[in-house]
Amino acid sequence: MKVLIATDKPFAKVAVDGIRKEIEAAGFELALLEKYTEKQQLLDAVADANAIIIRSDIIDADVIGAAKQLKIVVRAGAGYDNVDLEAATAAGVCVMNTPGQNANAVAELVFGLLVYAIRNFYNGSSGTELKGKKLGIHAYGNVGRNVARIAKGFGMEVLAYDMFCRDEDIKLEGVDPTCSVKMLYQSCDIISVNIPATKETKKSINAELLSLLPKGAVLVNTARKEVINEAEMVEYMESHPDFKYVTDILPDNHAEMMEKFASRYFATPKKMGAQTSEANINAGIAAAKQIVDFLKTGNEQYKVN
Ligand code: 3PG
Repeated sequence: MKVLIATDKPFAKVAVDGIRKEIEAAGFELALLEKYTEKQQLLDAVADANAIIIRSDIIDADVIGAAKQLKIVVRAGAGYDNVDLEAATAAGVCVMNTPGQNANAVAELVFGLLVYAIRNFYNGSSGTELKGKKLGIHAYGNVGRNVARIAKGFGMEVLAYDMFCRDEDIKLEGVDPTCSVKMLYQSCDIISVNIPATKETKKSINAELLSLLPKGAVLVNTARKEVINEAEMVEYMESHPDFKYVTDILPDNHAEMMEKFASRYFATPKKMGAQTSEANINAGIAAAKQIVDFLKTGNEQYKVN
């Protein structure tokens, strides 16, 4: 059996070594395609792969079609919006993710971005502090929970909205659930966006929602660019010179955002949330173990299609 790691943004070497150990201990072979620049390189590499480990790499119908021996794709991470689930299902390919494995890394970056934003991007002027501010967590999943834990250490008041999470469960963790997403945006100084990109959430952070924020609010996005209505974000920022937007996902209109709002907008050049050795090891080795288990015993835990 051949397992391919196909990562445009490579894992730390220590994680690749760990994955190799798992795969070879199972008697399988490991192939590596990193930092590829052309889709054709991916199409060639998947041709004889039985399993693929990916990150945000695009697995579309062409890739599935080119991978004639493919049985399983594991997205080493949380979001699997980069995989064409219909094409995979039609080809009998199992798709999994590794939920929670990189959540702490993403949550820590939320605070890296926030401190940078509220200290005015370290420009020497007087900024503000997180202590005592209200933080709204938009979706209380694995990342949201870690954001809440860290926020308490900063002395923040933590609120959360999640349509799939019971209020009692949120309350148990010392977080205030809000009854609607609108209420969350109305009530918080800072919003951490942690929603997945789905048909329902795409462009859902729009002018209507942003207009509910109080003066001087900050929005930090470590989720997906697709959940932001970029045109309406520009309009909102134009009419609200006190608002700041920091994101770990380069928006399509990054050049325009930089030109218009350089003093209160920041985007990492490449998604950095899960880019730590620890997260790479956790997610990469979980992916390898899930593949071995699936190929040897048929275990389909974490299947998403
Ligand atoms: C995820 O969905 O797990 C995160 O967005 C991390 O993505 P990455 O593996 O491409 O860094």
